[in-house]
Amino acid sequence: MDQQAAKLAAAQAALRFIQPGMVVGLGSGSTATLFIQLLGEQVKQGLDIKGIASSEDSENLGRQLGIPITDFDHHPSIDVAIDGADEVAPGLALIKGGGGKLLREKIVASASKRFIIVADDTKLVTELGAFPLPVEVIPMAVPLVAAQLRELGFTPKIRPAKTGSGPYITDEGNILLDCSSAGIADPEETAAEIRSMVGVVEHGLFLGMAERVLIAGADGVRELTLADLPFKQ
Ligand code: 5RP
Repeated sequence: MDQQAAKLAAAQAALRFIQPGMVVGLGSGSTATLFIQLLGEQVKQGLDIKGIASSEDSENLGRQLGIPITDFDHHPSIDVAIDGADEVAPGLALIKGGGGKLLREKIVASASKRFIIVADDTKLVTELGAFPLPVEVIPMAVPLVAAQLRELGFTPKIRPAKTGSGPYITDEGNILLDCSSAGIADPEETAAEIRSMVGVVEHGLFLGMAERVLIAGADGVRELTLADLPFKQ
């Protein structure tokens, strides 16, 4: 199974968590997009659900596919959110934000009763950090936050725009610092340190949020919970 087929298999496996009447969190990125497309097919066939999107891209896609889109004013709680990840480590610790949508993704995850990750098995790691950690920062604070991230051992780089010149600007008008490191040995401590930096809006460490990970590879789709992927001793 190639990576694209694995992403699709994981997205397909997530459909079984969706029941009529649910409010569904719509993730962002290529795997979450496959899930939204599959969900759109189900909606066309009569499935009655509503979606809350974690990005403008996912909201636009959902609308195009006929998925009724709602918001937290009308539905302050999400039944289940399905999203991708850049890395999945022991303790179901995640790095997210490779697609630049980490802030709204974390808001959606935090409002969800169940947060389920769909990914291909290249995302499974023994320690977070080979994938640069995205940190969303208020524009004026970028030099200050970058200096503090360097003190923590990171090498932060401003994410460039996908097209044209200048930096990538998030859906909320902020800058992303992609932070390389030799590895994140203690994600909880690192999250707390980054959280305390004034000007940081959010970071891509998603800790204690995922209920399970649907991970697809040559052996098909595996469902990993904390029992399968416990914290490192
Ligand atoms: C976007 C994300 C994505 O979920 C993450 O980057 C994984 O993307 P993909 O499914 O394309 O590998 O966090 O901000």
